[in-house]
Amino acid sequence: MIEELVRDEVKRITAYQSSEKADYLINLSGNENPYPLPAKIKKNFKKTILETELNRYPEIWSTTLKQKIADHLNLTEKNILAANGSDEVLQLIMETFLKPGELVLSIKPTFAMYQYFTELVGGEYKSVRLNKDGKIDKELFLREVEKNKPKLIILCSPNNPTGGLLADDLHEFLQEIMKRFSGLVIIDEAYAEFSGETMIKYLREDSRFLITRTFSKAMGLAGIRLGYLVAASDVIKLVQKVVRPYNINKITSLLGQLVLDNYELVDARIKEIRKNRCRLYQMLIKIKGIKVYESEANYIYFSGKKILEMKKLFVDAKIKIRYYKSDLTAARITVGSADEIEAVEKVLANFYDMEC
Ligand SMILES: Cc1ncc(COP(=O)(O)O)c(C=O)c1O
Repeated sequence: MIEELVRDEVKRITAYQSSEKADYLINLSGNENPYPLPAKIKKNFKKTILETELNRYPEIWSTTLKQKIADHLNLTEKNILAANGSDEVLQLIMETFLKPGELVLSIKPTFAMYQYFTELVGGEYKSVRLNKDGKIDKELFLREVEKNKPKLIILCSPNNPTGGLLADDLHEFLQEIMKRFSGLVIIDEAYAEFSGETMIKYLREDSRFLITRTFSKAMGLAGIRLGYLVAASDVIKLVQKVVRPYNINKITSLLGQLVLDNYELVDARIKEIRKNRCRLYQMLIKIKGIKVYESEANYIYFSGKKILEMKKLFVDAKIKIRYYKSDLTAARITVGSADEIEAVEKVLANFYDMEC
């Protein structure tokens, strides 16, 4: 009965699936930062939160936080919009710009929420397959842009789940795209701090570039749900109309600011994660019969029929990783702490033994 009352778009989409069952000891499935908040930040947070008036609403549009993010990026506060995770940023962009029936063009494989948010507002979603190295097939993609005339293009670089930059000359490729269509391009930079590559410096070239960022990955704050949009001030003004007032709570805002104030601590951990990524990559490429993708992010994607066998060993070791495809021929492991990588190594070493 109640189903008859629901919007068609909601009827059509499937709720995001993720198992909450804690039947693992090590979780390497969510691309989170493995390290807890540095002690210095924790101490400062504890002191400040006790003085915060939690009976009062937060700043209506999070101006102080946005100013701090802008300073960090050498931009102005007018170029920033803050939301509850970059998931919400993506949803706000769709709600602002996408009309029912309009097309979003993306790549595959990529982050599942692009399709979800597109369909939630009644848009159509189409994706162009990446080449076998996880890079964008430029000719094919440009042809699809010309043929389909999308309203929005979403590109994720480094891409989730493949881990690499979409192209070595992504900026030139974006310029080519811009010549061929009149819509907007969203570049999802959820993992950009790990690669050191960003398109933010090209923002001034074209106000149709929108860049989404998050505090959930390199910043190590997945638990507070903070993300932001970086764009031309005209774009920000429009998306701002869709934002619910007081959307960022005081605790989230405070922690976001403290982490930015102590960015050198974040930076040290990014370096650590990169080092661990290198170790994990070396371990994976030792396994014959799987293809391991080079990663610029905090996870590594690999494919091959052996993954089904490997899954048994990971499950036995209570290590949770992410599996793809119904036949489980692709998987993604988050780069964990040194101890977690060691636990993974034990599983993989078993696996080498079985191969000999
Ligand atoms: C590519 C990409 N974009 C966006 C997000 C959403 O991040 P959050 O909503 O935590 O900021 C994720 C999360 O895994 C992601 O992988």
